[in-house]
Amino acid sequence: MSKNQVSQDQLKQAAAQAALDYVLKHLEDDSYLGIGTGSTANCFIDLLAQHKGYIKGTVASSEASAQRLRDHGINVLELNNTGGVQIYVDGADEVNPALELIKGGGGALTREKIIAAAADDFVCIADQSKWVDHLGEFAVPVEVIPMARSYVAREIFKLGGEAVYRQGVVTDNGNVILDVQRLHPIAAPKALEEKLNNITGVVTNGLFALRPADLMLLSTPEGVKTLKPSH
Ligand code: 5RP
Repeated sequence: MSKNQVSQDQLKQAAAQAALDYVLKHLEDDSYLGIGTGSTANCFIDLLAQHKGYIKGTVASSEASAQRLRDHGINVLELNNTGGVQIYVDGADEVNPALELIKGGGGALTREKIIAAAADDFVCIADQSKWVDHLGEFAVPVEVIPMARSYVAREIFKLGGEAVYRQGVVTDNGNVILDVQRLHPIAAPKALEEKLNNITGVVTNGLFALRPADLMLLSTPEGVKTLKPSH
């Protein structure tokens, strides 16, 4: 297979391997590891299994990831019982050069944001298809208390977005998700993140701009690039 024919799955696998190398080098013996959600995070979990003896414990951003970790015999703890995580590894739906992200395609945005907030070092892993100059082609997920769904959708309309109800999805927290379209290009991600959070009934939203990633491991056919935020 030539460089041009490297599959997206292979790129995800390479990003996960780079994250594993990073974690094995930097994670301290007495520290905890945060684990994200999605297909790229799953690649990371499967690789981590071979090194579980070195990991004191993990905190997962979803029930699905927690179950996958336990199936591998990896210790999973409540965030409340850890005092915070040293490194958090997770994927993304979009990443810009400031390492601001859109996340939540898998519906786990709230727990992802909590672990990112509680982490010293947020390492994002993704294949190159997630890299964008400006966020917003991917609809921004918003987790909403169920009774507020229509009200929140109307408030989002006033901000210029179109909220689409993710039918049939209930989050691990018992809430619903609105996917907000027509926001591209998001000129001021931090301001929009705050505005969305300020709508009553919103639990959180999938813009990760106030707390962006610290490091990006971006997988390309030429290799995995290690990127820091451009300011
Ligand atoms: C889940 C997420 C994921 O990180 C995001 O959807 C990317 O997933 P994948 O690695 O499968 O492309 O935010 O809520």
